[in-house]
Amino acid sequence: MTDINWDQLYDDALRWTREAGEYIKEKMKESYSIDTKANQNDLVTDVDKSVEQFFQQKIGEGYPEHRLMGEEGSHESIHDLTGVVWILDPIDGTINFVHQESFFAISLGIFHEGVGMIGIVYDVMNGELFTAQVGKGAYLNEKKLNKLSEVSFEESILSFNPRWILKNRGFEKLITESRAVRCYGSAAIEIAYVAAGKLDGYICNNLAPWDIAGGSVILAEVGGVSSNYDGGEQTYLKKDTFIAANPSIHRDVLKRVQNN
Ligand code: 2AM
Ligand code: CA
Repeated sequence: MTDINWDQLYDDALRWTREAGEYIKEKMKESYSIDTKANQNDLVTDVDKSVEQFFQQKIGEGYPEHRLMGEEGSHESIHDLTGVVWILDPIDGTINFVHQESFFAISLGIFHEGVGMIGIVYDVMNGELFTAQVGKGAYLNEKKLNKLSEVSFEESILSFNPRWILKNRGFEKLITESRAVRCYGSAAIEIAYVAAGKLDGYICNNLAPWDIAGGSVILAEVGGVSSNYDGGEQTYLKKDTFIAANPSIHRDVLKRVQNN
């Protein structure tokens, strides 16, 4: 593989993400088709598919050696992370996109030999672009994000889907022993919120690589921690449990989710 100009790659990825955001806003003014996938809670629209095709085309033209692992089909041919892999969720929070028309994101992580190099989470309707290049810090629009400061579990604000309370009794402790719990419905935005210090922890029983790839790169740049419920690292090759947290409460969250 030829030498990689990471700054150029970052600029291209940002430009294409912004362009895709404009496309989504335009499509929202028109009608689009909505289908269910695995179940009635798993929605996909033709906008999700078009955004993935847009990235597929741009990457094919600009970076033909790179591969795309996208939620809407292109992931099916990706079984390893050798070389450069763009891990994309064209719309993370599709239920919000359809029902709320806000709180959805384009989520993109660019990985090199399995290592997260670039993270982008674009909350299209709120105009919040969270970005990071490994070793260069994380940003919310033009503002550099601070390293996460210490917080106690009792003062922490957590986020998760209330449905998980039915599946894991440890979530009751997350509710009663933290300061407050929120649910936004887009994993990418919720991980970015942990990176920005708006949340201290985000917890989910089942996430795919494209839900977490962009956010995890951004989170790592501010000293945040991500893991599965066993405390192990993500493989970015299969669905898994997921915790994103301020490092000072990561163990407190782990302890509670493991206490079934
Ligand atoms: P999506 O909107 O791209 O499907 C909702 O709480 C979060 O979980 C969203 O980020 C959503 O991504 C993700 N999600 C929903 N259903 C999922 C599934 N079956 N597997 C993995 N992630 C899912
Ligand atoms: Ca999606």
